[in-house]
Amino acid sequence: MKGANDKITLALIGAGGRGTQVILSLQQCSENVEVKYVCDVDRERGGNAVKELSGRQGFSPLKVSDMRTAYDDKDVDAVVITTPEHWHALATVWACEAQKDVFVEKNVCLSLKEGKRMTEAAAHYKRVIQCGTQNRSAAYAFSARDYISSGKLGAIVTVKAYCMLPGDRKWALKPDSSVPDGLDWDKWLGPAENVPYNVSRHKAWYDWWAYSGGAAMSGDASHVIDLARMALGNPGLPRSVYCAGGRVIFRDGREIPDNQTVVYDMGTYPLTLEASQYGDYLKKTPQEVRYSEELFPEWRTNSARIEIYGTKGVMFLGRHGGGWQVFGNDWELLDEGKGFFPDEAHHKNFIECIRSRKETNAPVTEGVLSAQMINLANLSYRSGKKYLKVNPADNSIEENNEAAALDNRYPREGYGF
Ligand SMILES: NC(=O)c1ccc[n+]([C@@H]2O[C@H](COP(=O)([O-])OP(=O)(O)OC[C@H]3O[C@@H](n4cnc5c(N)ncnc54)[C@H](O)[C@@H]3O)[C@@H](O)[C@H]2O)c1
Repeated sequence: MKGANDKITLALIGAGGRGTQVILSLQQCSENVEVKYVCDVDRERGGNAVKELSGRQGFSPLKVSDMRTAYDDKDVDAVVITTPEHWHALATVWACEAQKDVFVEKNVCLSLKEGKRMTEAAAHYKRVIQCGTQNRSAAYAFSARDYISSGKLGAIVTVKAYCMLPGDRKWALKPDSSVPDGLDWDKWLGPAENVPYNVSRHKAWYDWWAYSGGAAMSGDASHVIDLARMALGNPGLPRSVYCAGGRVIFRDGREIPDNQTVVYDMGTYPLTLEASQYGDYLKKTPQEVRYSEELFPEWRTNSARIEIYGTKGVMFLGRHGGGWQVFGNDWELLDEGKGFFPDEAHHKNFIECIRSRKETNAPVTEGVLSAQMINLANLSYRSGKKYLKVNPADNSIEENNEAAALDNRYPREGYGF
């Protein structure tokens, strides 16, 4: 175990926009945190992180293209995995095997098997893992959970989660082309099928099942579902899942739908999720609300809200620093809880747990269960909008062979678990 101020050495794996943000925040959220590696398979990426860190640390992080270089270095305590989603599970398992702690972005896995392997590896190698679901470090998430568990909302009757993003951009599939200079396309693909370079895959990976669970579902609804699960006391997987929807607004041939409605049977209550990308009148929580102790979102048009209906009132809960409010008879305001956008608190919690070896606010067990809610919904949709049942004994899929087959992602040789 490390002391409260002992040096922590980090490596960044995947130096895109989010990776750069997270590593800079981790490096400065606590004393004595250094970054030794910035790893990206694309030579064009990571320059900003290296420049900023060099100035702050007085030495430059090493720029590398193979994560194994950092994993093999005994100086490295923890790695920060901010690659596209198809790499999250494998990079996490490899890191655990190399005795590294892990910060891994959401959606943390893309299949039931991947999630199981991540959870097993973390437990076996006794690693500290923080998933990138930062609402779990928010003051409003803790107080919403406590409010509900105290019984003040009454019995939970039904839960409605929304991730209705503003309108999507236009999209057109570009032709295959030669690999850009400085990009290791083979390593970028990693466990996914080996296909020729295509800029629409590389730059818009959120639009392909091979690399993602979709921009609205994996990219955003994963946060909403995770916050809902936390507020509700971290229920296990649903007993059954059904997902309808399609590509209904932007009919441009993308395989990821732009509109999905999911019904989960959570046992004592149903939970529904609306995930879509169509209306500019739907807004994420604005900046002035994210960083305010007093302001709440306009709930009716807030695109990432959760409505928890109890027998004594309804709770509106928002991510991104939105907070929560409970209304009763005649829309009387019964109670409320506020707090800031929680990124910094989340990063601080990770560094503290690396030193103390305590469980993080967003442990891999919960990150995986929240990811599976998204993955199961996508499997129901992809199997032809068919219902699927979940076996609670081993979380396997029942009554939908197509979904079970689709969940079995085949990693390429050299990229298996
Ligand atoms: N928690 C949040 O609020 C939040 C916000 C934004 C993004 N994210 C998540 O962060 C992750 C990254 O998102 P982004 O927008 O920065 O994506 P991005 O595509 O801009 O960056 C990903 C980077 O990973 C690199 N990469 C791919 N394979 C690699 C490998 N094998 N080894 C090393 N580098 C590799 C790519 O070259 C790219 O530079 C995603 O999972 C996304 O969902 C989370």
